[in-house]
Amino acid sequence: MRKPFIAGNWKMNTDAAGASALAAGLAKALAGVTTVDVAVCPPFVYLQRVAEALAGSTIRLGAQDVYFEDNGAFTGEISCAMLKDVCCTYVIVGHSERRHVIGETDALINKKVAAVIASGLQPILCAGELLEEREAGKTESVVAGQIRKGLAGITAEQMAAVTIAYEPVWAIGTGRTATAAQAQEVHAMIRELLGEMYNERVAAQTRIQYGGSAKPSNTAELMANADVDGLLVGGAGLKVDDFAAMIKTVA
Ligand code: 13P
Repeated sequence: MRKPFIAGNWKMNTDAAGASALAAGLAKALAGVTTVDVAVCPPFVYLQRVAEALAGSTIRLGAQDVYFEDNGAFTGEISCAMLKDVCCTYVIVGHSERRHVIGETDALINKKVAAVIASGLQPILCAGELLEEREAGKTESVVAGQIRKGLAGITAEQMAAVTIAYEPVWAIGTGRTATAAQAQEVHAMIRELLGEMYNERVAAQTRIQYGGSAKPSNTAELMANADVDGLLVGGAGLKVDDFAAMIKTVA
């Protein structure tokens, strides 16, 4: 009932030629894959050329961030309308690197989620605990708090547009993946939370991705969990062979 959804977050990587080549390579490698929703999220400046490279493929385009205002004097920012203009479908919101490196707050993230949904784009709302928070037994309260605050004011109907990504910060870019059991435990908690915040239908329908050192060798194990509906992939998403292998494993 929940179609698997695998997205590549390219972060601040690639260059113009590399972005086009990666997108074209994926379009070719994944031609004919229809049982998994696939998206790539390149840097803003390469969205347009990646959209061109993906033309005719089923791979969707996503952005890594957005600003919540429609337009105006917000130097350096990018609006939802601009992202739609270059053919985006998804927007990652509240990635841990934006929370912990750039300093985004739950309040700002909530405004972004609301703006993304209002524009017709689909947010991938990220949540995840730091290592010290996990070690202090705070995983559940941190993740639940980020999700409650990130989704404040979002209705049950609007939740149809939302994907949640659970990304334990200690697993991102470290090679240290959460075990399948650790991922499942938090995913199940998130689904229960969605049931409390909304209803059983929203809990059952919302896709929850896992992110953090996901790669070809751990894809099957992670995806075998009942509540893991997809992956948000960093490093392995920068290689055609690795990313395509992960999707084919799931397909
Ligand atoms: P890595 O797959 O490189 O650990 O990154 C995960 C991530 O942050 C995806 O958004």
